[in-house]
Amino acid sequence: MTPKRKTAPDAPWWRDGVIYQVYPRSFADSNGDGVGDLPGLIAHLDYLAGADAASGDDSLGIDAIWLSPVYPSPMYDFGYDVSDYCGIDPLFGTLDDFDRLVKEAHRRGIRIVMDLVLNHTSHQHPWFVESRSSRDNPRRDWYIWRDGQGDRPPNNWQSVFGGPAWEWDERTAQYYLHLFLKEQPDLNWRNPAVQDAMWDVFRFWLDRGVDGFRLDVFNLYVKDAQLRDNPLRLGLRAYDRQIHIQDRDQPEMHPLLRDLRALLDDYPQRMAVGETFSEEPVKMAAAYYGQQNDELNLSFNFDFTHQPWRARAFYDAIARWEAALPPGAWPCHVLSNHDVERHASRYAAGSNTDVRAKVAAALLLTIRGTPFLYYGEELAMRQGRIARAQIQDPPGKRYWPLYKGRDGCRTPMPWDDSPHAGFSINPPWLPVNADYRQRNVEAQRRDPDSVFHWYRRLIALRKASPALRRGDYVPLIRRPVHALAYLRVSPEQTLLVALNFASRPVLAVLDEPLPARDWQVLLSTADRPDLELLGNSLALAPYEACVLGMA
Ligand code: GLC
Repeated sequence: MTPKRKTAPDAPWWRDGVIYQVYPRSFADSNGDGVGDLPGLIAHLDYLAGADAASGDDSLGIDAIWLSPVYPSPMYDFGYDVSDYCGIDPLFGTLDDFDRLVKEAHRRGIRIVMDLVLNHTSHQHPWFVESRSSRDNPRRDWYIWRDGQGDRPPNNWQSVFGGPAWEWDERTAQYYLHLFLKEQPDLNWRNPAVQDAMWDVFRFWLDRGVDGFRLDVFNLYVKDAQLRDNPLRLGLRAYDRQIHIQDRDQPEMHPLLRDLRALLDDYPQRMAVGETFSEEPVKMAAAYYGQQNDELNLSFNFDFTHQPWRARAFYDAIARWEAALPPGAWPCHVLSNHDVERHASRYAAGSNTDVRAKVAAALLLTIRGTPFLYYGEELAMRQGRIARAQIQDPPGKRYWPLYKGRDGCRTPMPWDDSPHAGFSINPPWLPVNADYRQRNVEAQRRDPDSVFHWYRRLIALRKASPALRRGDYVPLIRRPVHALAYLRVSPEQTLLVALNFASRPVLAVLDEPLPARDWQVLLSTADRPDLELLGNSLALAPYEACVLGMA
């Protein structure tokens, strides 16, 4: 079951490839229950990378799928509350369906990255059921149980989703810790038995042919040994009024990651990408690669998801990330995921929204590092509007209208203009976006100018270009105002990327003259045969994104 397209041993696939996140509830529903499932995903693999992607079919051309959780779960947090790490929830299918997914994906050269949620389990996980049954149960210490201070919880920690992080449990008259919902009790990673159980979970999936793992909030696994209070500061929500130094980022996390890396390295071409949820996000995301590059293979840096639509903001975000990375660490970038507002909506600009999405895509797919795409972003899919009565995301219900929750970025993939957007034959668990009749896969496949085809062309160019996949990043404008320009340089090739963030034509002044070569336009959102180079300036059309190569 090894993938068909092989990469050279010196080029691990997760450095070279494009990784596409599927939120399985919302991708494709095969059985009409309104929730996406594994057979639905299998049926659409050809869309992601056809069996002939290398020889030019019209698939998107991605290299790997990161699959948000599909394990058995009571779904309080839609799968991020796992009740069995070694199974598949019947809502999504069976283990046989999963094996078929791995086989069918590998046949098309697509790797599978599982999402492991190991900071906490579901309260319905048999481990927790045992743990809460009595104070002397052998699994008591698999979770974090404490006496209160009088009638107050053991410390001042707060749940990310709101309210205290401690839940009083009548039966054994103690509190348990939950940094998310009370239905998501935190495991005690200081207990070696918990660690061993988790390493077995990794092996279970590795042995089934899985190629990698996304580690959910891994930097929360280990808490302060004495569970000391977090210091306070000013903030809007109780959670934000604390400096999270005791409930995150403990030094003991590093040896744990090294153990995990050793385990993964026993298998060929396997990887872990971690979600760091931190006080100092860029610095800590970088730190978890390990000083010897012996911890995470990739670490998410969410800096792009916070940037306003300004060339300078993105330039600085790239510079911060490049400066923070330890030697040899390989960056990765992300614009959207299942927790944040979709970037087409963050960067909405009326009729210019799609062209902005093309500029953003060009940045994501030409910058140094592994790009992570979120399903639907290749259509410039917008944030869905969810009425109060339809809210599904638990924190959404709690904070409305201050915070609308995460449903808006999780609406069903629009496949075509039929009822329910071809996602399901029945009403889906979240409403399809209002614009699905115009914005859907089928319509964008027909339109050569669509955002979908732009992604496809960028991905194909990246695949064919050693400079884009592995080259150095050399900025050409160090104080950008409207446009970014940079080279990507590998021993075989030099490419120039220019991105105009403005709605009008700009002359992007380079810090130094470009090497005098015959630059050829390889890709551009503007219909241009040649580069217009006026002295040290590049003339760019409104919102132009272009990639040039030397003849
Ligand atoms: C991560 C996930 C998020 C989930 C939380 C708790 O942040 O991305 O969706 O709710 O962890 O598991």
